[in-house]
Amino acid sequence: MKLEILPISQPKEKIADESKLTFGTKFTDRMFAMQFDRDQGWHSAQIKPYGPLALDPAATVLHYSQEIFEGLKAFRRTDGSIALFRPKDNIARFNRSAERMCMPEVDEQFLLESLLELVRLEADWVPNSEGTSLYIRPTMIATEPFLGVRPADQYLCYIILSPVGAYYKGGIAPVKIWISDHYVRAAHGGTGEAKTGGNYAASLMAAREAAEQGYDQVLWLDAREKKYVEEVGSMNMVFLYDDKIITSPLKGTVLDGITRRSALKLLADRGYQIEERALSVDEVMEGAANGRLKEAFGTGTAVVISPVGSFCYQDHCVQLGNGETGELTMKLYQELTDIQYGRKPDKHDWVIKL
Ligand code: COI
Repeated sequence: MKLEILPISQPKEKIADESKLTFGTKFTDRMFAMQFDRDQGWHSAQIKPYGPLALDPAATVLHYSQEIFEGLKAFRRTDGSIALFRPKDNIARFNRSAERMCMPEVDEQFLLESLLELVRLEADWVPNSEGTSLYIRPTMIATEPFLGVRPADQYLCYIILSPVGAYYKGGIAPVKIWISDHYVRAAHGGTGEAKTGGNYAASLMAAREAAEQGYDQVLWLDAREKKYVEEVGSMNMVFLYDDKIITSPLKGTVLDGITRRSALKLLADRGYQIEERALSVDEVMEGAANGRLKEAFGTGTAVVISPVGSFCYQDHCVQLGNGETGELTMKLYQELTDIQYGRKPDKHDWVIKL
């Protein structure tokens, strides 16, 4: 398929003060888009001016949420060059989500090349300061105007770019986590492993209740027994328990996070034993109280590495250590961002330079 590149008329004004960059509020001048229908497959790939979509009000995505997305980042490195972190892994996961949601798969090589071309054209939008990056959001939606419930016959795949700062207002400050024993995020056989908008929409009510009570995020328990911790809305969870690393196994209810994978690899490189196993909420609460649970942090593209300061469950709260960012969490954050910003060698071949 040919990629057509259309001109933009008037570039937008960029944010001059990068310390004011927030998460996902500002978008660049261009976007990528391609369309699918059953007869032609994917076609009409373009890089064009960023702008609103024209959608039929009956488009399937608006009624039955047939939608998937991805999140990855491009970094301005210390030598001024630009590199993307593990884009092939995100595109492969995009296709796994597509399969789960009965959507057409994309040609991974073509999407990667289009993505690199888009970032190349928007290179001036990649911010320079520590902690900032260009967040990349590939998305696919069902566009066929049809109200019956079945997989649509028409789709739009697009990519937008957003220069971002830290996901949480406090940057790498410890977050306060509420463990919900009422709401559930994902059940066995459901869509928990797919990156689909409905999973996030379904999490909003618990997140709102958590925020009203002064918590930053919700940690979900498994749907079957409400006993084992799974993931937080925008991140996977990793625990330093005794001297081992424990994280939930990937059994269909937890997102296969690319940052999770990277963190586990870097921790294994440091000699940590990794246990991908169900960890009960009792182990978390007791471990934090008796000191066996030394550190806990979330991993995600948007949040990077996010330390946990305390967990609250039912009417009980426990602080981790002194409530500050743990030593290993800080080292891991440093190591991962050193690789992303090109300050340390990329031993695992995670980075693709423009
Ligand atoms: C990401 O970390 O890229 C995500 O997609 C989480 C998001 C919902 C902010």
